[in-house]
Amino acid sequence: MTATTPMTATPIDGKAFAAHLRARIATEVAAMKARGITPGLAVVLVGEDPASQVYVRSKGRMTREVGMNSWEHRLPTDAPQADLLALIDRLNADPSVNGILVQLPLPRHMDESAVINAIDPAKDVDGFHILNVGRLATGQKAMVPCTPLGCLMLLRDRLGDLGGKNALVIGRSNIVGKPMAQLLLRDSATVTVAHSRTTNLPELCRQADIVVAAVGRAQFVKGDWIKPGATVIDVGINRTDGGLVGDVDFDSAAHVAGAITPVPGGVGPMTIACLLANTLTATARANGLPDPEGLTP
Ligand code: GUN
Repeated sequence: MTATTPMTATPIDGKAFAAHLRARIATEVAAMKARGITPGLAVVLVGEDPASQVYVRSKGRMTREVGMNSWEHRLPTDAPQADLLALIDRLNADPSVNGILVQLPLPRHMDESAVINAIDPAKDVDGFHILNVGRLATGQKAMVPCTPLGCLMLLRDRLGDLGGKNALVIGRSNIVGKPMAQLLLRDSATVTVAHSRTTNLPELCRQADIVVAAVGRAQFVKGDWIKPGATVIDVGINRTDGGLVGDVDFDSAAHVAGAITPVPGGVGPMTIACLLANTLTATARANGLPDPEGLTP
C-alpha cells in the first residue's frame, strides 16, 4: 500500500464512546444518591512512579466528575508490605468504600498476588483477585478487568453478536490478554491466543475477524497481516520518538481493516470509564440492587 491509498477502515471512537458511558454512569450515580447511596472508589498508590501518578490523578478526577466519592491513599516506596495490607483491611471494612484499586506495578519488595488477593473480591474493581479470575473463567458473576471489558463493549457495539467470529488475542497478560480471551469465549467467539512463542502469527492474523493486540510492542501488527474487513482493537500504548503509538501499524492496517481503534483515543479512554462502571456495579451489588444494564458482560 502506498501512503496515498485512502484509508478504508472506520475509526472506532473510544473517546466518544467512553464519554457517553461516563455520562450514563453519572445519571445512575445521581439516581443512587437520591436513594442515599454514594458510590466510592479508593485508589492506592505506592511509590513515586511518574506514569502511575498520572493515571491515579486522572482516575480520581473522573471518579469525582461522575459524582462518586474518591479517595487517594499514598504510601512511600519503601513502605513495608504489612502497612499496605493494613490499609487494604481498613478499606475492606469501610462500608462507604465500594471499590478498591491498588495501582500496579508495586515496588519489588512487595508480593503483588498477596496484595491483590487481600482485597475484598466484591470491591476488586480491577477484577484481578483470584476469585474474580476464576469466576470469569467459569462463567459466574465476577468483577471483570477494565481494559478487556472496554474492548468487549467496543466490539459488541461495532459487530453486535460475536458468536462464531474468529478472534485472535495477541498477548497473554493477566491484565488484558487472558481475561480478553475469556470474555470473547463467553460471547461464543472462536478464540486463539498468540504470544511471543507463536510461530505463525501473520497467518493466524489473516484468519481473524477480530484482532485484539496487547503485546506492548510499537506498531508490531502489520497491515498485510489483517484480513480485509476485520475489526482491529489496539490496546498498546507505546511512547516512541514519533509520539504515542499502538501495537498495530495504524497506517497500513487502516487500509485493510473494516474498523480500527486509533492510539490515542481508542481503547485508552475506555479503561477508566470501565473502572467507573465496575465501581457502580460493585455499589449496586453491595446494596442488593440489580446490576446496572449493559455494564457487565
Ligand atoms: N497499572 C497499569 N494498568 C493497570 C490497571 O489496569 N490496574 C491497576 N491497578 N494498575 C495498573
